[in-house]
Amino acid sequence: METPEFHPVAERDQVRPGVPLRIEVAGRRLLLIRTQEDSFHAVDEFCSHEEATLANGAVRDGCIACPMHGSRFDLTTGRPLEEPATEPLGVYPVRLEGDRILVCPEPIHD
Ligand code: FES
Repeated sequence: METPEFHPVAERDQVRPGVPLRIEVAGRRLLLIRTQEDSFHAVDEFCSHEEATLANGAVRDGCIACPMHGSRFDLTTGRPLEEPATEPLGVYPVRLEGDRILVCPEPIHD
């Protein structure tokens, strides 16, 4: 089995807590999110409901809320916590090397 490839996407201080950063990794449009608790997550940029961008979504309690219809998604599993979204977001492995943040474009939960 091949080792998944991690791509450098940002420096730690480029990512403000609670403010999603748009990134593109191997052709996928993702959001890099630093929570207020200082954990890093990478998820699909677009909501699984109607493809709205989540880039302006509120980040709170380990979740991101879709600005369009309000579904919240768990940043660790990608699962929606309430309707109207019923499908999970793709979530992607994140690695920190010093101050460098790397993301693998292979989703953890598909
Ligand atoms: S587009 Fe995100 S909940 Fe509808």
